[in-house]
Amino acid sequence: MQAPVRIAVTGAAGQIGYALLFRIASGQMLGPDTPVILQMIEIPNEKAMKALEGVAMELEDCAFPLLRGMVLTDDPNKGFKDASWCCLVGAKPRGPGMERADLLKDNGKIFVGQGKAIDTVAAQDARVVVVGNPANTNCMIAASQAKRLPKERFTAMVRLDQNRAAAQLAKKAAVDVKDVKDIFIYGNHSPTMFPAFAHAKINGKPVPEVIGHHAWLQGEFCETVGKRGAAIIAARGLSSAASAANALVDHVHSLVTPGSVHSIAVKSNGAYGFDPNVWAGMPVKTTSLKDTPGGYEPITSYTMDDFAKGKLAATNKELVEERATVKDMLG
Ligand code: NAD
Ligand code: LMR
Repeated sequence: MQAPVRIAVTGAAGQIGYALLFRIASGQMLGPDTPVILQMIEIPNEKAMKALEGVAMELEDCAFPLLRGMVLTDDPNKGFKDASWCCLVGAKPRGPGMERADLLKDNGKIFVGQGKAIDTVAAQDARVVVVGNPANTNCMIAASQAKRLPKERFTAMVRLDQNRAAAQLAKKAAVDVKDVKDIFIYGNHSPTMFPAFAHAKINGKPVPEVIGHHAWLQGEFCETVGKRGAAIIAARGLSSAASAANALVDHVHSLVTPGSVHSIAVKSNGAYGFDPNVWAGMPVKTTSLKDTPGGYEPITSYTMDDFAKGKLAATNKELVEERATVKDMLG
């Protein structure tokens, strides 16, 4: 059994926090042999900190063998101290009728201070996953504050979109979701994202061949995946939480599983024609921090047809526009 790994989670008393912390403490994120210390960060507000105490009581009551300690704090410098994983969930969620980009002005500034604090106090091997929306651009803001940690250590979550896309393809083809492979998300976590169906496989065969309905793939499929968050808000009156927490568990689990191929949003460095300085979803292969600065290698070899190129250009345009909106927040 190895030494406990410190995992910082912001927004720990929120919806996603409540669905996430128990899964981390049970070992689902880092595996059954890795003990954890949860460093739970909330805002300096009596109600939020009280709620966080309640969450900590419940965690204690689960008697998780892997949970070796808890820190409850409203101070990012304490919460991120020596953390190897920093899960940046805490931010305002959107309500009905809003786009995620509408949250930029309120949420963007959170990631300036948190990026600085992480760079100053987190562990040497720290990795950051941004969930708070708009996730790609918030991740770019946090990474821009880092002077010590490589930019590759900052990733944003598009795994919920990958999971949604896999589930929609499985439903359409009437197969088990495990039979769907290689469906990856490109670009922004927004309706412009591109779930690249042409490279995906169902039981080893190309998805377009199995589904045989191009209009559905190009239209309804892309639209359903891109607008699934809004559909959940319309149905629940609240944004997705359990599925978002599940996707974060998957995102980190894949990053600690060498050889795993999955979608994350990373600094594009110009791959797939993205602006080099935006954080864009794309497939990566997990390596290790010994071999690569972020512990993964972007997979940049997929060829795109004209339809895909149009989708990539649209999602890139949106990311570039978001970057322009927050230029004053970039370090
Ligand atoms: P929530 O309102 O239930 O909880 C957010 C929590 O964050 C609150 O407890 C709040 O006090 C806390 N918080 C706010 N600012 C903070 C800060 N600076 N430091 C620490 N804590 C802070 O919201 P939620 O449903 O848990 O969603 C959180 C965020 O995740 C939202 O921005 C939402 O849009 C986003 N989200 C992203 C995805 C994705 O796929 N990327 C999926 C679902 C939700
Ligand atoms: C989601 O995709 O469910 C989240 O990003 C929440 C939202 O605002 O859609």
